[in-house]
Amino acid sequence: MDYFEIEGKNQLSGDVQISGAKNAVLPLMVASILNNDQLTISNVPNLSDSITMANLLRGMGSEVELSDGKIHINSQSINDPYAPYDLVRKMRASFYVLGPLLSKFGEAKVSLPGGCAWGPRPVDFHIKGIEKLGATIDLEDGYIIAKSNKLKGNKIVFPKISVGATGNVLMASVLADGDTEIHNAAAEPEIQQLCHFLNSIGAKISGVGTNTLQIQGVDSLNSVENIAVIPDRIEAGTFLMAVAATGGEVKLNKVNPNHLETVISYLRHANVNLDVGDDNITVLSNGDINSYNIETNEYPGFPTDLQAQWMLLMSVASGDSTIKENIYFDRFNHVPELNRLGCNIDVDLKTATASIKGKRKLISADLTSTDLRASACLIIAALCAEGTSVVSRVYHIDRGYDKIEEKLSKIGARIVRKK
Ligand code: UD1
Repeated sequence: MDYFEIEGKNQLSGDVQISGAKNAVLPLMVASILNNDQLTISNVPNLSDSITMANLLRGMGSEVELSDGKIHINSQSINDPYAPYDLVRKMRASFYVLGPLLSKFGEAKVSLPGGCAWGPRPVDFHIKGIEKLGATIDLEDGYIIAKSNKLKGNKIVFPKISVGATGNVLMASVLADGDTEIHNAAAEPEIQQLCHFLNSIGAKISGVGTNTLQIQGVDSLNSVENIAVIPDRIEAGTFLMAVAATGGEVKLNKVNPNHLETVISYLRHANVNLDVGDDNITVLSNGDINSYNIETNEYPGFPTDLQAQWMLLMSVASGDSTIKENIYFDRFNHVPELNRLGCNIDVDLKTATASIKGKRKLISADLTSTDLRASACLIIAALCAEGTSVVSRVYHIDRGYDKIEEKLSKIGARIVRKK
């Protein structure tokens, strides 16, 4: 199993190209089910999650070719509305296929992520939303069996904002009879791109970028040949925090600073110097970081996917601080690993709040990645620590960061992938 060996205490300097967004490319690939023709997606990040999604689509009968930075999908031959457990368990975003498959075939068999039991589970919003469009849904052996005649538009109010449920119900509703309204819809840039893509093939979605989407059902969709994935704001935020924590000066290219407004504002509160251009950000830090209390929130709030990286940054800041996690109340798996390096973080699970002591002197350790974004924070921690650390289980990071060790090495980090 691959691991990273990281020697800390090196300032970073140079340029980094930010890749296309993982959370945008996956729903776009799924939307190819509705596109029903040839589609080329460019600015595609090289990630194991994109390969998993390609395999899922191939299993349904689509032809999918991955080349450097591009994916060609021909969905004319898609014929099997089935998403097996083996692929869905690897990547929750596979569940996105439920809505478009049902809309196209009138039926779908999709494994529940993790094969969880029926009930108010983390895909309950997806299921209830799709039922509201007229589908019947049963559970058999860990699989959702969904059936419908033509779906019918309806008003759907999610109990809380969900990125995945918004994308799923949206893709189910574009070809439904009549109008659909989604309240508490996600406004994340990746969902905005999905809406713009669907509109470009003939869907009628308005309210894009707000928390209420109106979808006027259409009889058919056209096809479009090309779409370029938006820049990955989470990868960009991760590099900003890495440079802020280690110190140095790095220019990030191919970013969309508008998608990072809250992150930029919080970093400035933390005394990080940022020069923001149209599609680039230069970060300059002498490692002298101010502590600043934050909460994670839905877009345009501070993303939960950057919470772990921010926590590390606050551990090397000048004072104590707190982070309240409002999206995933127990997303603190990285805390014990960070504490092993010398951080001093306490979590109150009742309030989903982490209290972080600042001014920590970090010393190298052997670290285990527990999930995708936690692995990114462990890498930053190792870059700040005295000595050589090992970060194992890097398959988590390969799911969502395109060649992270190459990008970091290019700006002076001492990080090597080993087998
Ligand atoms: C997406 C992102 C992920 C990010 C998350 C929150 C993708 C592929 N993944 O995940 O990187 O961390 O948004 O920004 O885009 N919930 C329910 N029932 C549901 C659905 C969600 O209770 O049916 C809850 C979740 O437990 C969580 C909250 O809603 O507390 C938000 O989750 P959601 O936005 O759905 O996350 P994902 O779409 O899975």
